[in-house]
Amino acid sequence: FLPKKQKQRDSLINLKIQKENPKVVNEIDIEDLRTPNVCYCRCWRSKTFPVCDKSHIKHNELTGDNVGPLILKKKTL
Ligand code: FES
Repeated sequence: FLPKKQKQRDSLINLKIQKENPKVVNEIDIEDLRTPNVCYCRCWRSKTFPVCDKSHIKHNELTGDNVGPLILKKKTL
């Protein structure tokens, strides 16, 4: 039987990104998107966070999870 604090630590989603901040928040202006598609990380394993670097593929293989990026697509007129 694990103490409550240990259980909470074992279920951390963010293991190493900006741990000095009490809350990690990223804000992106849609108007500033320079490429037609941008992928943002939702697995918290990207080495280029908040941008996805495909680390979710390895994470999913290792854990059986099914997470993937948020993809923003710019409309082309
Ligand atoms: Fe995290 Fe792709 S690296 S969603």
